[in-house]
Amino acid sequence: MRILLIVSGGIAAYKSLELIRLLRGRDHSVTCVLTGNGGQFVTPLSLQALSESKVYTDLFSLTDESEMGHIQLSRSADLVVIAPASADILAKMAAGLADDLASTVLLATDKPVLAAPAMNVRMWLHAATQDNVARLAARGVRFVGPDEGAMACNEFGPGRLSEPPAILHAIETFFNASKPLSGRHVLITSGPTHEPIDPVRYIANRSSGRQGHAIAAAVAVLGARVTLVSGPVSVATPAGVTLRAVETAAQMLEACRAALPADVAIFAAAVADWRVTNAAGDKIKKVPGGPPPAFELVANPDILATIAATGPLRPRLVIGFAAETADLMENAQSKRIRKNADWIIANDVSPETGIMGGEENAVHLITPDGVEDWPRMAKDTVAQRLAARIVVALQ
Ligand code: CTP
Repeated sequence: MRILLIVSGGIAAYKSLELIRLLRGRDHSVTCVLTGNGGQFVTPLSLQALSESKVYTDLFSLTDESEMGHIQLSRSADLVVIAPASADILAKMAAGLADDLASTVLLATDKPVLAAPAMNVRMWLHAATQDNVARLAARGVRFVGPDEGAMACNEFGPGRLSEPPAILHAIETFFNASKPLSGRHVLITSGPTHEPIDPVRYIANRSSGRQGHAIAAAVAVLGARVTLVSGPVSVATPAGVTLRAVETAAQMLEACRAALPADVAIFAAAVADWRVTNAAGDKIKKVPGGPPPAFELVANPDILATIAATGPLRPRLVIGFAAETADLMENAQSKRIRKNADWIIANDVSPETGIMGGEENAVHLITPDGVEDWPRMAKDTVAQRLAARIVVALQ
């Protein structure tokens, strides 16, 4: 995970060094922003040495801005952690001030924020600080600590920075909660298949791979390990997804079998239903005035039905698509039963819908419990909604 660590002022700032060491030990990447006050307690050099990456200190640094602008910096992490979070930075955040790099990053970020407060007990208990913390918590800022104990200023009470292992634990708990599919393996087919006629010609279905790839991206974001078995497409492979590129239905089936076991299998590919038995080894030449070539077709294996019939290896949740141009719901319902799928996502792909190859989809989710009609929405949104349904189904 990528963490942007803001180190603000306070005697506890030295503990941020231990936190960085722990985070790096767990393979999280850490980029530090050091406030002016924080720089009175720890040096940029020690943060840089432990985090093994550049430390940002100055809002108006030409060098920093040319490498990474502060807006980009604020969005380049999965989580923003403030440790220690001084009374001052909490007050700035609550008021929406942006007068240095740290407060500007906090105002500009669209990422979750976790604060580990550290300050004198009277400052922590002061109504102003408590008010600020309540406002921030209501806006979704998470807190870890402060702990209670003896303070550097010889006072006793709440205000001590949580120990670095407790902050690490809070960070990892946050990630686990935001990754409800972590530890799950999701197999997805996407795109068309190409069935050769000769070395230069093939039979294919119309499919851009957009919907299947969007589902792969959506479940990967939720922490799933994803194997994407895709026919030839021009859409990019989503981040964090393992691609198995195939051409034919036979190769697609083989790649799916090899990817088992999986917790969930989603069949979004538009598989060519037939292949040519007598595919030519050389390019078929036109014979002037002669008859067109005749092809003998044989049915391709049904990948969904085959994987749904793998006995103990059958994924717990098997999801198919039914792309139809007529009798949508009837055909989709009978496909669900015939292919032994748990869920079918039915969609009308008549040319006038513009769905095939387009950005949007209008689907109906058919489960053993009934039918849900989803309004027309972006394929990415369909994917996110499906991913959320999968999370619930696996609980
Ligand atoms: N499917 C598959 N392997 C095939 C054909 C289809 O895995 N050889 C999957 C698709 O990925 C989809 C579902 O089965 O999830 C239904 O595909 P669809 O093309 O709608 O149905 P077909 O079985 O091909 O039936 P028909 O062409 O008669 O509508």
